[in-house]
Amino acid sequence: MPASENSFNSSPERKGWKPGKRDAFFLTFVAAVVMLLVLGTSERTTRPTPNDATHQQAASRTACMECHNADGIHPQPERHTRADQCFQCHVQPEGWVGAK
Ligand code: HEC
Ligand code: HEC
Repeated sequence: MPASENSFNSSPERKGWKPGKRDAFFLTFVAAVVMLLVLGTSERTTRPTPNDATHQQAASRTACMECHNADGIHPQPERHTRADQCFQCHVQPEGWVGAK
């Protein structure tokens, strides 16, 4: 292989890498994004299901919705999700008697 075709490997820019100002800026930016993601996942902010007898004994979505539908004693907020798995978002009460 003639030497001229090998110029890609021997070009001066590829000889070494020293972090410059822009690299420092970029690395700071990446670190900030990572921190935001880590902090953002650390805590669930949706209200947990209360740890009282009523909630420990409500064993199905239907049971929950008897009180939490629009005409129940404590309706879900108006634009609440219609998802069925309440405990995916509202932490299951301690000592819950429902299906294992
Ligand atoms: C017999 C009625 C009744 C049933 C059944 C019931 N709840 Fe409740 N729920 C209430 C009442 C009343 C409140 C508000 C007072 C309180 O915090 O206990 C409430 C509050 C809540 C709250 C809000 C807590 C807060 O901090 O504001 C969540 C979340 C909740 N219930 C989820 C559920 C889920 C999930 C189920 C089914 C496993 C369920 N509830 C079954 C009556 C009921
Ligand atoms: C995808 C997530 C998700 C699921 C699944 C879910 N919820 Fe919620 N729910 C929320 C959010 C977010 C709120 C807004 C207020 C909050 O932080 O609790 C809320 C609020 C509520 C509230 C009002 C709490 C209060 O007193 O302020 C009730 C009651 C409730 N949900 C009941 C239920 C029940 C019952 C189910 C199951 C049928 C259910 N939720 C499933 C996310 C969810």
